[in-house]
Amino acid sequence: MGTCFRLIMYRSSCNSVSLQAMFYSASEKRYGSMQYRRCGKNGLKLPAISLGLWHNFGALDDFEKCRKIIHTAFDNGITHFDLANNYGPPAGAAEETFGKIFQEDIKRYRDEIILSTKAGYGMWSGPYGDGGSKKYLIASLDQSLKRMGLDYVDIFYHHRPDPETPLEETMAVLDLIVRQGKALYVGISNYSALETQKAIKVLNSLGTPLLIHQVKYSMLVRGAEDGLLDVVQKNGIGCIAFSSLAQGILTNKYLSGIPGDSRAASERGNGALEKSGLTEPVLSKVRELNEIAKQRGQSMAQMALAWILKDERMTSLIIGASKPEQVTDSIQSLKNCRFSDEELESIERILK
Ligand SMILES: NC(=O)c1ccc[n+]([C@@H]2O[C@H](COP(=O)([O-])OP(=O)(O)OC[C@H]3O[C@@H](n4cnc5c(N)ncnc54)[C@H](OP(=O)(O)O)[C@@H]3O)[C@@H](O)[C@H]2O)c1
Repeated sequence: MGTCFRLIMYRSSCNSVSLQAMFYSASEKRYGSMQYRRCGKNGLKLPAISLGLWHNFGALDDFEKCRKIIHTAFDNGITHFDLANNYGPPAGAAEETFGKIFQEDIKRYRDEIILSTKAGYGMWSGPYGDGGSKKYLIASLDQSLKRMGLDYVDIFYHHRPDPETPLEETMAVLDLIVRQGKALYVGISNYSALETQKAIKVLNSLGTPLLIHQVKYSMLVRGAEDGLLDVVQKNGIGCIAFSSLAQGILTNKYLSGIPGDSRAASERGNGALEKSGLTEPVLSKVRELNEIAKQRGQSMAQMALAWILKDERMTSLIIGASKPEQVTDSIQSLKNCRFSDEELESIERILK
């Protein structure tokens, strides 16, 4: 594992204040066990498991724990960190947290790291802080770069389709951002299969091909299977899943109550899992799935992630984590992403 030292001020026995300069050093074994998958037909590869900072990296979260989660991820080959302008709370705080850790600890590994951010949801008041206009997206990316102290991000996403802005305008901004050198690649998120097909066509005509689509996909949320996965495959686009643990439902943590330190107990708002999402019909399915996971020698979380990664159309999935141990636990899913026909049939029967 990597080592982390901080700049520590301490008072020595003769009462003078000393400075101890120390730094984070990434594990030399970081590329030992992670898989890297190509984004469709593009040159870029992503780790099969990426880390997202939607929750757990806000202003009220324990900064040293955030630092440890990032270090653990990178030490284990997670080279991709996913952010958005509005992650926090408050909005912008996750980029600030990440920016501080990046500047202090991992800046020297910049060329080993893929950073993504997004804009598309409401970020600031007035008519220019939401949607897909050129005015909003250009200003938002400039703000994100400033918060993280970066010259460029690797991937910039339009976070959700905006029915009020012509698709041509939004895609032209993505193209412009790449030409300006503020992002290397562009992606879209939460677009339907049809909207994705149209976005691909416009971007191709501009000369900035779509790199990747970011989609909500888990055993419990299967919309991606209704055409989107076929569109990305047909067009050689990457696909990265989010909320593949359904924010923690697809783990064994809620099977005997709601732990006090869980997301469901935290009442964070901003789309975070709430207690009302933990219904008995859903939990009884998870109990049954957990039995299959045990037979496979996996935790429930590991099986839920492996189930996504069994599909070769998936480039990566983005996990969230409130503890470093969750990162190492989730990575173990890569040890077995194969499912027998019998296992797949049993899973489908439970999910129906
Ligand atoms: N494009 C979009 O619109 C969009 C939307 C949502 C998310 N995302 C991206 O996807 C990322 C992940 O989303 P998410 O947080 O919903 O993902 P998730 O992986 O479904 O849920 C993360 C939560 O699951 C629990 N967990 C994680 N690993 C575990 C393990 N091994 N064992 C037990 N529990 C475990 C933790 O819950 P506790 O906190 O309870 O410990 C953690 O906070 C986000 O950070 C963001 O980057 C994108």
